[in-house]
Amino acid sequence: MRVELTVNGAVHPLDIDPRTTLLDALRHHLRLTGTKKGCDHGQCGACTVLLDSRRINACLALAVMHEGCDITTIEGLGTPEALHPLQAAFVKHDGYQCGYCTPGQITSATAMLREVADGWPSHVSPTLDGPVHLSDVEISERMSGNLCRCGAYTGINNAIREVADPDNAEAAE
Ligand code: FES
Ligand code: FES
Repeated sequence: MRVELTVNGAVHPLDIDPRTTLLDALRHHLRLTGTKKGCDHGQCGACTVLLDSRRINACLALAVMHEGCDITTIEGLGTPEALHPLQAAFVKHDGYQCGYCTPGQITSATAMLREVADGWPSHVSPTLDGPVHLSDVEISERMSGNLCRCGAYTGINNAIREVADPDNAEAAE
């Protein structure tokens, strides 16, 4: 089946089996291997990508369903020469050990910060409307779909907190 995927600003025509997941289309057809396959069952978040700026698990999405969407992978967030602020903060705060979960953590955090800016409440938010204070509990809850088997959570949390609130950077040390 013919499908055109827009990934990191470029349009890619593909001939794929309609059962191909977005994750496999990215990794195997487009060779964008930054997006990782952890569980392949929607449980670890390693495959998180942005779809029109919102986060999804690419292992649970069919590629053919997302023609015309704006897909962003970790390769589209920053470059080695010009890191995305979250990428720089993960380096600064040691937010990775093996690094396998890191692309998913960073893409997920990118969308999460947008959700916070848009005022979306989480399960632990004290109210359903009004501004969100991004406490450690809020960050942990909002990032709970992304697992890190190495347990780099403290560094991940500090990196996200610093990007969310640069004035609070010292508290994140
Ligand atoms: S690989 Fe998609 S959630 Fe684990
Ligand atoms: S850094 Fe290894 S799984 Fe997260």
